[in-house]
Amino acid sequence: MKWLLTILILFTACKKAVEKKTFIESESDYQYHLIIPNGFPLPLIPVDNELTESRVLLGKTLFYDPILSSDSSVSCATCHRLNLAFTDGLELSKGVENRTGMRNTPTLTNIAYAYLLMFDGGAETLELQALAPIADHNEMNSDMKLVIERLKKNKKYISLFKKAYQRDLDAFGITRSIAAFQRTLISGNSPFDKYYFRGDTTALSASEQRGMKLFFSESLSCSECHGGFNFTNNHFENNGLYTVYADTGRARITNLSSDVGKFKVPTLRNVEYTSPYMHDGSFSSLEEVIAHYALGGKNHVNKSVLVKGFNISEAEKQDLINFLKSLSDKEFLNNKNFIP
Ligand code: HEC
Ligand code: HEC
Repeated sequence: MKWLLTILILFTACKKAVEKKTFIESESDYQYHLIIPNGFPLPLIPVDNELTESRVLLGKTLFYDPILSSDSSVSCATCHRLNLAFTDGLELSKGVENRTGMRNTPTLTNIAYAYLLMFDGGAETLELQALAPIADHNEMNSDMKLVIERLKKNKKYISLFKKAYQRDLDAFGITRSIAAFQRTLISGNSPFDKYYFRGDTTALSASEQRGMKLFFSESLSCSECHGGFNFTNNHFENNGLYTVYADTGRARITNLSSDVGKFKVPTLRNVEYTSPYMHDGSFSSLEEVIAHYALGGKNHVNKSVLVKGFNISEAEKQDLINFLKSLSDKEFLNNKNFIP
């Protein structure tokens, strides 16, 4: 009986995938088939940038092409590396000529679901965000005019742009296609997902289950900020890293003193791979992160009342770390669809 069910599920799964390959008349292209994991909502896709197969392919090609940087040495993927959940393993990012940037490279896991982008929320859409690294002195140090000039020398790009956006190669297509590709970076197949959203009670070990209880407990309050299907409330919070912030975070955008030291709450999906942690990469391990929260952080007027310290045993700390590691999605980290 179980056998039959498996076959049936496999069969319907394949059938569905085929059925979903719909041609969108207005875009003269096939819709990109985004697989939404159980428990996840649909991401918001802007109406002027529907996901199509050519757009995602173009965006992916550009994401991995160092031609976007002034000396053709750095691509988006130099800093956002798939095997590190699209981070780079460095405290602070490094761009052209080895220039050190201001912040730690964040993961792009489930970035389609972010409300605002950057640690300070300085970019409103993925389309707009793509302009920042291309121009940033410490990242790609290039400019859009130069990028367009260079791309136009490549016949492959000219035809990809025509197919994707039915227009000549320009900034519109560059930023939109890169955004489209990034919206496909969906991760929802971790052991936690299997346990929590798909009812596989064997997917988490006893220790991981104990860690999960701690994570969602009132005394630790992790889930108050890192809650929901993507382990973030998408708010800006001060988690008590410093008494004086060299990087004031959200206040850089709003100029409000009440926003000093507030940073976007990051997703914890694939957190095993995104060290070093925090906006400045100041913690190198999950042990250090937990020690920070256990002590209740440093005093700051804006520090959240939820960062209040707690007392747990060494064994419980290990349980919590094991739970955080159960958010790793190996399929995501090895997904061949994410490389050109
Ligand atoms: C030199 C390393 C580097 C390069 C190259 C780079 N990034 Fe980033 N990326 C970063 C850093 C650092 C941040 C955080 C910046 C901030 O918060 O001010 C970031 C932030 C982002 C974010 C926002 C993530 C979030 O959670 O809000 C997106 C999206 C992104 N980058 C996409 C790209 C794309 C697309 C490219 C290529 C066009 C690119 N990056 C090139 C280092 C890099
Ligand atoms: C008041 C909200 C809040 C609470 C409560 C909270 N966090 Fe955080 N967490 C944040 C913010 C904000 C950041 C990013 C800070 C920065 O970039 O400097 C963060 C960052 C992290 C990071 C680093 C992620 C990365 O990729 O850099 C980890 C891991 C983490 N928190 C785990 C936890 C755990 C475990 C708990 C419970 C013990 C917890 N957090 C409680 C707001 C919170």
